[in-house]
Amino acid sequence: MTDIGRLVRDIADEMRGAEERGEVATYIPPLARIDPRQFGLCVVMADGEIHAAGDSEELFSIQSVSKVFALTQALGKVGDTLWRRVGREPSGTPFNSIVQLEREEGVPRNPFINAGALVVADINLAGHEPRVAIGELLRFMRYLADDDTIIIDEAVARAEQATGFRNIALANYMKAFGNITHPPELTLGVYFHQCAIAMSCRQLAMAGRFLMHGGFYEPGGPRVVSGQRARRINALMLTCGHYDASGDFAFRVGLPGKSGVGGGILAIAPGKAAIAVWSPGLNANGNSLLGTLALERLTEATGWSVF
Ligand code: DON
Repeated sequence: MTDIGRLVRDIADEMRGAEERGEVATYIPPLARIDPRQFGLCVVMADGEIHAAGDSEELFSIQSVSKVFALTQALGKVGDTLWRRVGREPSGTPFNSIVQLEREEGVPRNPFINAGALVVADINLAGHEPRVAIGELLRFMRYLADDDTIIIDEAVARAEQATGFRNIALANYMKAFGNITHPPELTLGVYFHQCAIAMSCRQLAMAGRFLMHGGFYEPGGPRVVSGQRARRINALMLTCGHYDASGDFAFRVGLPGKSGVGGGILAIAPGKAAIAVWSPGLNANGNSLLGTLALERLTEATGWSVF
């Protein structure tokens, strides 16, 4: 039996000394100021045991990892009718790409590229004030993580609002096709705030438990989503969670995973573990360089790959 606690500490030690760490995202100004020497890892096992090492208690901007939870929230509201407005195929394009939207009449390829996440935010807005939708998502995250301290970093949300010209373009473009139903600035407000949620690796791994437990909050606990929905969200994370690097992530790590430009990755080993890793330096596809390497080490040693 692998000693997971020891493995987690060994991986954190290796990553602490790594020279090649990638580049922090600079297009969102507060993220450009984050120290790239940080690395955190937390593994929550199926039996609830927690193994953590490095900067696993440090808060970071979860960015696109929020798209997993926003999708879960939106599916809870409108069920599978969501798929009339968002596809379920990998895009093969960068996270902020606009090129497919013209040919595909404003229907984004999947809920994890920015265009898809904006439609999901539009569904979550559901005619309310943006603060109602975002408050609901925050409460959901706090419930899932069993932690009332999770907050939104308002400085990050403001910076995204001020510099998010690509997202503003995407929302307006989809509005022209009728696939954004609210005034784009309101939908964008929800989206920018969900991306600005700040969490630690421990909080994020805890929040991902329902995806390891087939939709249950914890063994013997209440249902968060059906087993089918949990499987489907995991399938989307595997095929689309790392954008045009999803194939490479499946090849190297072999787990459903969702990355964010803050350097966080949530990965799920169904029935075995929920894992959150964070290191702010990114590879060329905008995914955490050391985070991916750490997950590769973890699945190599444990055999947790789904393949
Ligand atoms: O909308 C954006 O560009 C960011 N708030 C989130 C992008 C992101 O995290 C992409 N993931 N790797």
